[in-house]
Amino acid sequence: MRAGKINIMNKLDYFFRPRSVAVIGASRSPKKIGHVILRNFLEGGFRGKVYPINPMAGSLFGLRCYPSVLKVPRRIDLAVVSVPAPLVPKVLDECGRKGIPSVIIISGGFGEVGNTELEQDCLRIIRKHRMRAIGPNCIGVYEPSSGVDTFFLPRYKLERPKPGSVAFISQSGALGSVVLDWMAMKGYRISKFISYGNALDVDEAELTEYLASDSSTKVICCYFEGLKHGRRFYDTLRKVSSRKPVIIIKGGRTEEGTRAVSSHTGSLAGSREVHSAAFRQAGGIEAGTLEELFDFARVLATQPSPKGNRVQVITDGGGFGVLTTDWLIHNNLALAGMSRKTVSSLKKVLPPHVVIKNPLDLTGDATVERYSMAIDASIADPNVDMIAVIALFQIPTLTADIVDVVSAASDRSSKPMIVIAAGGRFTEVLKKTLEDSGVPTFSYPEKAAAALKALYDFSREARA
Ligand code: COA
Repeated sequence: MRAGKINIMNKLDYFFRPRSVAVIGASRSPKKIGHVILRNFLEGGFRGKVYPINPMAGSLFGLRCYPSVLKVPRRIDLAVVSVPAPLVPKVLDECGRKGIPSVIIISGGFGEVGNTELEQDCLRIIRKHRMRAIGPNCIGVYEPSSGVDTFFLPRYKLERPKPGSVAFISQSGALGSVVLDWMAMKGYRISKFISYGNALDVDEAELTEYLASDSSTKVICCYFEGLKHGRRFYDTLRKVSSRKPVIIIKGGRTEEGTRAVSSHTGSLAGSREVHSAAFRQAGGIEAGTLEELFDFARVLATQPSPKGNRVQVITDGGGFGVLTTDWLIHNNLALAGMSRKTVSSLKKVLPPHVVIKNPLDLTGDATVERYSMAIDASIADPNVDMIAVIALFQIPTLTADIVDVVSAASDRSSKPMIVIAAGGRFTEVLKKTLEDSGVPTFSYPEKAAAALKALYDFSREARA
């Protein structure tokens, strides 16, 4: 297939599912970026062909090195460029002449340091050869299913998350990589991760549109500083946001932060208020912090849409029940009122010191059986739209199989269910098991309530 015959959307596929990759600037030195990128392709599960390109090297990791992509006898789907900025136009031209459809430019030293002329030279070459490019000044793509990994951070220093259904687009590479490491540690999963830097060619709008049609992605998360093509992004967001949640965190919200943006990616941050209003109008979900972004993403990726805003709280600790209630109401959610039928059936099976209200306090001698009955009753009750289970695992009567009971109930429930569990090491182990089985967990009621609100808002948006 010749590059000229591939349409634009298909060309983006080459970034995520190439059959062959050239690493240009594959250094002999283990500490250099090009070396690490090559190593990650070879050791990270990529099953396609890998061609190291370096005129100074004979072979690397037992693979023959080529002085230029033009000397590679086979077709190349993706080139990852990691040579100093002044050399980039020349290697891009070689990529174009070779018919390579997609290029990721890792190198820095372009618009972000005022070198816009060099950036424009690169753009002309990309357009001339009808290539698509991500970057420059980026760390590129991580796609766990295909094994594409252009992140130049060694795997022993930065863990990679397993395949999942949350995609992340980040203008900043460093922020993106830290988030990736953190996600892996927490057991959160990812479908695709793209750090796109200066957005010379492929920009946030096109990536959002691409992810909207990506069957492995359920939720799209974005970190932006300044939008390359604001109008185009908002038009895309409007189209995408009723089908898939798009969660956005914006950098450069203060005057000082805005100044930092222009020296980071060379883009204009714009006013926070203007962006916030436009995100919301276009149906985007704005997160205040990175943690909130992932709280929202976990719930939106794993939980069904609620039919309404009525939440049943089930707890073994009164104080946590009260705080959760406060935060639910603060977020314009409502406490569910269980039906009379549910209340009378629970009265028959629960001990008399359990007050069957909302919050439903199973008290300090709560057992797994009590939780099981309360959760089942909430699932069955038509007056309940969402379920918040507070499980303070420290009480002696609560055994570790609470985790199995909650995850099994979550599997068969058509209502969203989240768990709030605060504590130390023992609690964290159980929470990780719940997360692994697709039940979102929270340490703090305010965070759980905000995430349920995001889920409810999206379900309303999707229904509208
Ligand atoms: N084709 C392929 N390889 C070439 C080449 C060419 N035309 N010309 C030179 N090379 C080789 C070099 O010989 C070297 O290999 P060696 O170490 O085995 O000799 C290798 O490419 C790398 O070149 P080098 O000059 O050593 O550069 P470097 O590795 O020190 O730096 C960058 C290159 C791209 C990493 C650096 O310029 C840069 O941009 N750093 C910032 C990256 C960044 O922060 N990106 C954004 C993240 S958010």
